[in-house]
Amino acid sequence: MSVFKTSSRSETVALGNRLAKSLSPGSLVLFTGGLGAGKTAFCEGIAQGLGCTDPVSSPTFAVANYYRGKQPFAHFDLYRLQTPEDLEVAGFYDYLDEGAVVAAEWSENFADLLAQEPAVRIHIQKEGENERTITIEGAEI
Ligand SMILES: Nc1ncnc2c1ncn2[C@@H]1O[C@H](COP(=O)(O)OP(=O)(O)OP(=O)(O)O)[C@@H](O)[C@H]1O
Ligand SMILES: [Mg+2]
Repeated sequence: MSVFKTSSRSETVALGNRLAKSLSPGSLVLFTGGLGAGKTAFCEGIAQGLGCTDPVSSPTFAVANYYRGKQPFAHFDLYRLQTPEDLEVAGFYDYLDEGAVVAAEWSENFADLLAQEPAVRIHIQKEGENERTITIEGAEI
């Protein structure tokens, strides 16, 4: 387990960029942390690090944003999903099977279901307006 502190959005993006180097096809990255923690910012860094040039916007209305590139990236927001069927219908497992890197915000909604999945687990704790404590399990970074 590694613990990082960031003091700006761009530092969190940079950490995501760094993490991307240790991901491979079919890697799953599960995020926990409250509203505005910085999960989407971290995912923007992952997309950069994977060589996906499209900017990652917060998938507030879309359940999944998919980014083509040398290493495809599927970025999910599970905030509004509840049942295992929701996850399947959204294509969560299909993207993993196809060898995309899959990241999911609000994985706490599926804590039980995803507990046994091999995954990089990232918790972002909001400490103040710009301070974040970011805990990463399951990857060397
Ligand atoms: N150290 C930091 N790391 C990341 N974001 C920060 C940091 N400091 C301030 N911010 C701000 O916090 C907000 C984080 O927003 P972001 O959309 O990334 O969070 P989120 O966890 O995806 O939220 P949501 O649960 O609503 O999807 C942004 O407005 C960003 O500018
Ligand atoms: Mg978000």
